Amino acid sequence: MVQEFTRGQVASHSSKDDLYLIIRNKVYNASEFVDEHPGGEEVILENAGRDATEAYEDAGHSEEADDILVDLFVGELSANPDAWHPGAVVETSRPVTGSSKQGPTISQLRKEATDPAPNGLSSFLVRESFQETELVEKTCISHNVVICRFKLPQSNQTLGLPTGQHLSVGAILTQPDGNAKEVIRSYTPISKSHEAGYFELLVKSYPKGNISKHIASLELGDKIRVRGPKGAFHYTPNMVRHIGMVAGGSGITPMLQIIQAVLGGRSNGDTTEIDFIFANAGLEDILLMERLDALAEMDQGFRVHYVLEKPPSQWNGRVGYVTADMISELLPKPARDVKILVCGPPPMVRSLKISFEDLGFEKPLAADNPGNQVFVF
Ligand SMILES: Cc1cc2nc3c(=O)[nH]c(=O)nc-3n(C[C@H](O)[C@H](O)[C@H](O)COP(=O)(O)OP(=O)(O)OC[C@H]3O[C@@H](n4cnc5c(N)ncnc54)[C@H](O)[C@@H]3O)c2cc1C
Ligand code: HEM
Repeated sequence: MVQEFTRGQVASHSSKDDLYLIIRNKVYNASEFVDEHPGGEEVILENAGRDATEAYEDAGHSEEADDILVDLFVGELSANPDAWHPGAVVETSRPVTGSSKQGPTISQLRKEATDPAPNGLSSFLVRESFQETELVEKTCISHNVVICRFKLPQSNQTLGLPTGQHLSVGAILTQPDGNAKEVIRSYTPISKSHEAGYFELLVKSYPKGNISKHIASLELGDKIRVRGPKGAFHYTPNMVRHIGMVAGGSGITPMLQIIQAVLGGRSNGDTTEIDFIFANAGLEDILLMERLDALAEMDQGFRVHYVLEKPPSQWNGRVGYVTADMISELLPKPARDVKILVCGPPPMVRSLKISFEDLGFEKPLAADNPGNQVFVF
């Protein structure tokens, strides 16, 4: 018979030698695996005793990683909601390393959730629970990309998402095996963070995707469930002198959020320079090209450099994959007041990390450490 664990019980296994994780409602003993994890031990330690489903999904793990999970399986998460002991989880939600990234306490979360946004408007998102929001506008911008506008309950409410962070969309979806499963994925709104009454998501849908396909199939008036904010990175004006960005495909969304914040903050003295390499397969895959070009034309401190794998015949931009030479030519050189932001498909991210290290950028600490010189969303 399969053993059942409460969240509290899992939380008590949070040391390096005795380390359990919850992934997709299953419990895994990762004690023997920590040292050999290809993504580094820090990320596993930071999730010790906790539900690591979103972190695991966000890292874009392969089927080989799922196969390793089978060997680490020790039981199922108890389905009994009474078995949820928030106190126990908060106690052990601190990373077991000396890292400074501590999990917020429940009282901090409640305070953040109810505090008004800086501009005095109330904010919508709640970190620990899903909220419903209604689709009020849907624009197809290509055969597989939609921009969806969701209404906030009050017209003077903002989403409450710090610049650089994202939210989670959750839905119960029927899987190919016929079973229903809760799926949660991350999205970065492309609307400006201070916009009141609504927010917008740009979503690229994949034929075999879960949430992306679900969002693409929504009709006006349908609702989705969102929670947040999520993410370790928080942009503050002039935090560095120069930001270099590399994104692939729908990885544009966190970049756009930061570009809009920097350019929108010029009148308040934000002088941050931005160079952005945007990599795509073909010309028709470049999302929001008009908006990016208009922003670059308007602002001397923002430059966008397109790279295409399969360019049309009349193409003046760069061609191929993003290489170390391209980075060295187009992005700022390593320096204390330079930050690199990366968002794209996992194989692209893996190869970029190597290029940045070869070019002399600092080796990233834990995957989501906001202090990383090269930060991956
Ligand atoms: C911080 C962060 C912010 C993000 N913001 C956005 C955003 O604003 N907009 C957006 O569209 N996405 C964004 N993503 C990606 C998003 O979270 C999902 O991973 C994506 O929508 C696919 O989810 P899914 O549930 O549809 O597919 P999944 O269930 O994850 O995958 C099922 C299948 O879909 C296909 N698939 C999924 N992803 C890819 C891919 N990248 N390339 C090729 N095939 C794929 C594969 O066949 C895969 O087996 C973000 C991701 C992160 C980590
Ligand atoms: C027991 C659970 C886990 C297993 C079995 C596992 C397994 C793996 C494997 C096999 C890889 C190599 C790439 C791949 O095949 O996908 C990988 C990479 C990675 N993992 Fe995990 N992982 C686990 C938990 C986590 C968690 C909780 C995180 C949190 C963020 C994480 C973050 C990463 C990252 C960022 C990489 C990419 C490293 C790189 O290419 O630079 N993993 N993992």
